[in-house]
Amino acid sequence: MRVAGSARVPGDKSITHRVLLLATLGRGSSRIRGALTSLDARSTARILRQLGAGVSPLRPDAVVQVEGHGGLRPPDRMLDCGNSGTTTRLTLGLLAAHDFAATLTGDDSLRRRPMRRVTTPLGAMGARFTEQNGDGLPLTIHGGSLKPLRYELPVSSAQIKSALLLAGMAGQVEVSLREPHGRSRDHTERLLRAFGYDLTERDGWITSKPTGRIEPFTIEVPGDPSSAAFLVGAALLAEGGSLRICGVGLNPTRTGFLQVLARMGGKVDSEHQSDRYGEPVGDLVVGPASLKGTEVTAEEIPGLIDEIPLLAVVASRVRGVTAFRQVGELRVKESDRLGLLAENLRAVGARAEVQGDDLLIEGGDQPPAGSVRTAADHRLAMAFAVLGTVPGARVEIDDMVCAAVSFPGFPETLSQLAAGGVR
Ligand code: S3P
Repeated sequence: MRVAGSARVPGDKSITHRVLLLATLGRGSSRIRGALTSLDARSTARILRQLGAGVSPLRPDAVVQVEGHGGLRPPDRMLDCGNSGTTTRLTLGLLAAHDFAATLTGDDSLRRRPMRRVTTPLGAMGARFTEQNGDGLPLTIHGGSLKPLRYELPVSSAQIKSALLLAGMAGQVEVSLREPHGRSRDHTERLLRAFGYDLTERDGWITSKPTGRIEPFTIEVPGDPSSAAFLVGAALLAEGGSLRICGVGLNPTRTGFLQVLARMGGKVDSEHQSDRYGEPVGDLVVGPASLKGTEVTAEEIPGLIDEIPLLAVVASRVRGVTAFRQVGELRVKESDRLGLLAENLRAVGARAEVQGDDLLIEGGDQPPAGSVRTAADHRLAMAFAVLGTVPGARVEIDDMVCAAVSFPGFPETLSQLAAGGVR
């Protein structure tokens, strides 16, 4: 395949969830341009409507209008978070500061994902929980007035960190947090600062003081670097040409995958850098490269957690071995991503194994061929679709529809790329 032309990717998923949640806390109308309209974003919009906010339909290219009432209202039904862990955990943070009960649930995958990682510290702040399924969902939260929190996270996770920062913000109490190793995405910190919250960082501790106030706002969401990563991977594995991906969020806590690709020999230029509401944005320009294996350290993992499926399929095509250290967190993503990555890479003829919490992949140049089981995990589906673009590949994927969880239109974008150019 040759690549040419330029592409855009849908709005950033993490930022879309956060600005939807924050807009419901302002009193009045907020406007969100470039919001992601995928299934996960719709899950957040749906439950916020149940919690009393007016949220206009999430349609591609339409500005999303949110009518906030200065807080959340008690829901009359269960809140269905679909496939979205971010929706669930961040909303739990906000609900912790609201004096009513709400029950959250989700699809088969989400119901199995661990929630005590947020309910334990939210419980220490004063929220109460009734579990119906142990560590998973459904789960009922009884919120109310909160106490300050000083807490060391058991894993570096932006979802845990954000749930606690949002609880502190909504409950008007100080929160201090420390992540164990590596820095997870900091969109919540940047947004809270923009609303006047005093967020400081010292000796690895992030402290947020309840000094700000959420007012209605207008914002433009940048393109999602995690979605752009799949197009970057396809361009690196292509046989010729060059691709520009326009308007991508380049927050340094999200672009760890570019550093890893650079070490592997893949040059990705970022151009036209500007700052949009505290988030750096630019174009990525990338073409094919001859790549070699590398070691991805435990400290780097939080900054590229969602890009590991893509990096792993790229690693299966390069010279030498690539090691991803301490990636046990992948077991509790939308699927057991660690097990399924290794299993599916082997299923298409690549060499991959899990050793403890490490993922090791030895590259090769045989055309990948075989069937891939995604367990409806969007990022596995997209990563293996990228692998399916290499010359001679015969990769069958059991579910491509799930890509719509984060990247509506992904199959079409990838086939345009494979046809020699996007727009
Ligand atoms: C996200 C944080 C990450 C990531 C997820 C989105 C966020 O999860 O995998 O896709 O928006 O905060 P963890 O914080 O659980 O690692």
